[in-house]
Amino acid sequence: MAEIFDAVDVIIAKRDGGELTGPQIDWVVDAYTRGVVAEEQMSALAMAILLNGMSRPEIQRWTQAMIASGKRMAWPGLNRPTVDKHSTGGVGDKITLPLAPLVASFGPGVPQLSGRGLGHTGGTLDKLESIKGWRADLTEAELLSQLDRVGAVICAAGPGLAPADKKLYALRDVTGTVESIPLIASSIMSKKIAEGAAHLVLDVKCGSGAFMKDQVRAEELARVMVQLGTDAGLGTTALVTDMSAPLGRTIGNALEVREAVEVLAGGGPPDVVELTVALAREMLAASGLPDADPAAALANGSAMDSWRAMIQAQGGDPAAPLPLARHHEVLAAPATGRLTRLDALAVGTAAWRLGAGRARKEDPVQAGAGIELHAQLGDHVTAGQPLATLWTDTPDRFARALEALGANAIEITGPISPTAESATGPGYPVAPGARPPGAQGATAAGPGPGHPTVAPTGPPRPRQLVLARIADPR
Ligand code: URA
Repeated sequence: MAEIFDAVDVIIAKRDGGELTGPQIDWVVDAYTRGVVAEEQMSALAMAILLNGMSRPEIQRWTQAMIASGKRMAWPGLNRPTVDKHSTGGVGDKITLPLAPLVASFGPGVPQLSGRGLGHTGGTLDKLESIKGWRADLTEAELLSQLDRVGAVICAAGPGLAPADKKLYALRDVTGTVESIPLIASSIMSKKIAEGAAHLVLDVKCGSGAFMKDQVRAEELARVMVQLGTDAGLGTTALVTDMSAPLGRTIGNALEVREAVEVLAGGGPPDVVELTVALAREMLAASGLPDADPAAALANGSAMDSWRAMIQAQGGDPAAPLPLARHHEVLAAPATGRLTRLDALAVGTAAWRLGAGRARKEDPVQAGAGIELHAQLGDHVTAGQPLATLWTDTPDRFARALEALGANAIEITGPISPTAESATGPGYPVAPGARPPGAQGATAAGPGPGHPTVAPTGPPRPRQLVLARIADPR
């Protein structure tokens, strides 16, 4: 069959700063999915889009074309309003775990179709797979039945949703074309719209551990996605939230599940609780429950009941012990003062190098690997106290993980004690007696050139988690 356009003409039009027509967009997305537009041609087009941008009508048409490449889900006969949440991805971002059962405990259905982690950000499915017996793959009938009975479902997105995006995202990952607002917005929203929920709340991350490093770009991404959702009939709002430091005190699969359970039990780190409650309020308000009190449901155990039901429905044993990595290494505070920087990207990279994440999508992850923080941003620390524990099954990973935490990853703002000054010499101080014998050799190689910086003065910087709320102005 003759093709109606030529890929080279479409690439040149965008390369020269032109606006693609609707039929050109429909064709190029469809022809790429069919394999008629070659990978190198789509790669050139993605780069032209990254450099020259897209108008709102182009982004909208591109999103619709990606949706049309696969199937659209619907929830026939479900007696619950449906509400979905998406995070653009961050370090220690385990919010989906307590959030889905928390919102479902008030009645709405939360179909949370999730993915696995790649690079320094973790994947929700990898986290849940550290629970004994838990199964990510559900048939559509199982998904619908669980949504009806339990309300909350977190499972793998099937290959049928927006297959064009699956192909294009893998290509962008290896061609330096991920960080384009039109391409990120259309990628996320094509899948979310195809999932068929009635409402969507977006958590758009901003800071070193996120795609969007600054607030202006994060807000722009949020606005584009809110508009795409609204135009498609999906009630959409977004919170732009801080990802300059990790969320909570744990980074890594089983470690994050443990912290999520603490939140569901009415405890947990204040930042994880604050963001869970803020997103839950948005989701509940969108579902017609503006007066619901999510903090109360964490305190009174109803969110925990909903979590247990969700895990059990997918074959998991919520009471089974979570896996622990076999080796650990303790990083001690090099100085006394306030922890004024704990860089999200550096901590995420260190956890990834310990085995919590994967470099290629076929790689396995270690359930117990990761980082446990003993202090969070703004906390006062004393020289020599444990700042973080690094966990892995493979101790030869410690050196490279510690290297990621070097240079400017950690900053402690004075006063500086005499012991602290000697602690900032080359290499990391390690809490006395904290290393298991098996890990000694692994760290003897040293952490590499960097070390935490100690700034002499400066006021504490309180962390503001929710930076902006974006809703459709219409
Ligand atoms: N997540 C997605 O699904 N797509 C992107 O482009 C970026 C993050």
